[in-house]
Amino acid sequence: MRVLVSGGAGYIGSHTVIQLIAAGHDVLIVDNFANAKPTVVNRLEAITGRHLPVQAFDLRDVDKTEHLFAHEQLDAVIHFAGFKAVGESVEKPLEYYENNLGTTFSLVRAMRRHGVAKLVFSSSATVYGTDQESATEDRPTSATNPYGWTKVMQEQILRDVAVADPTMRIALLRYFNPVGAHESGTIGEDPTGIPNNLMPFIAQVAVGRREKLRVFGDDYDTPDGTGVRDYIHVEDLAAGHVAALARLARTDDPISTWNLGTGTGTSVLELLHAFERAVGRELPYEVVERRAGDIATSYADPSRAQAELGWVAKKSIDDMCADQWRWQSQNPEGYPDA
Ligand code: UD1
Repeated sequence: MRVLVSGGAGYIGSHTVIQLIAAGHDVLIVDNFANAKPTVVNRLEAITGRHLPVQAFDLRDVDKTEHLFAHEQLDAVIHFAGFKAVGESVEKPLEYYENNLGTTFSLVRAMRRHGVAKLVFSSSATVYGTDQESATEDRPTSATNPYGWTKVMQEQILRDVAVADPTMRIALLRYFNPVGAHESGTIGEDPTGIPNNLMPFIAQVAVGRREKLRVFGDDYDTPDGTGVRDYIHVEDLAAGHVAALARLARTDDPISTWNLGTGTGTSVLELLHAFERAVGRELPYEVVERRAGDIATSYADPSRAQAELGWVAKKSIDDMCADQWRWQSQNPEGYPDA
């Protein structure tokens, strides 16, 4: 298939591009580089040995999106592009709703006008709200912050589109906590400023960019008192997209929902200690207050994806830490500007 990958220069998008190419697909990346650097594309070309076409524009631009669909032959879209920082979404709710919903409106309109039926959408376990233990896909959705609501709303919009146009083939992929990097160490997550998420923060402590990890609370109702999450290697996650795309080509369901997680929870301290094993030394941390809005435990029930996609996450926590460390130690300041 020829696949438009929106946000293809981002963290999950870039890893998915590699696996799409490996599976024999062609890709067209669209990215406005709001939260990604163009050097990502050079590295993707080095890994894949292919020239990768890139269009740099904001998908909310309806005219440019229409122009693209009018001139390119496309079989499917994987839609990653979007803002994703929870805290920032509380400060800037309008920007989050406008950007995340706006790109989806523009893309799906163009898809329907040009008869592109297959869409894989980047959703999140955040749509399970505060109820994320062994979450199954039929659980009611809700959210606790504007970022989360944009995912709930985009899912609902896509469900409504699938009712109105049953020729659509849409996959809603609910990611748990993506971490790790490509095994080459040349692409990975490159957060701007102070990382919000645990794994990139630990990696920056290890490389000396941050003094110590702050563990947000050790009095949760979990085995060691720290928050438990379902960390999934970004390469397993990328493989889930390729599997979902294959499934869309053979299903009769206009819309499907799949959790992408391992089904296993890991605590903050367990992840820290696994990272210490990867680095070969202890890393400094202190326990501080809980972070507002955090829940104790989140992990997937991934059995539907296993049964219907024939997909299962294969990589261990130690693999995730080793690959994250390779990326971070080879690129201590992230991607170069040019
Ligand atoms: C966060 C988002 C979630 C989003 C996901 C994307 C929040 C509240 N939720 O999930 O909506 O889909 O990222 O990957 O931001 N922790 C520390 N110290 C740190 C950072 C984190 O102790 O410096 C702890 C947290 O309290 C939590 C765990 O590490 O227990 C994981 O946190 P994080 O990586 O931010 O992910 P989530 O909060 O699960």
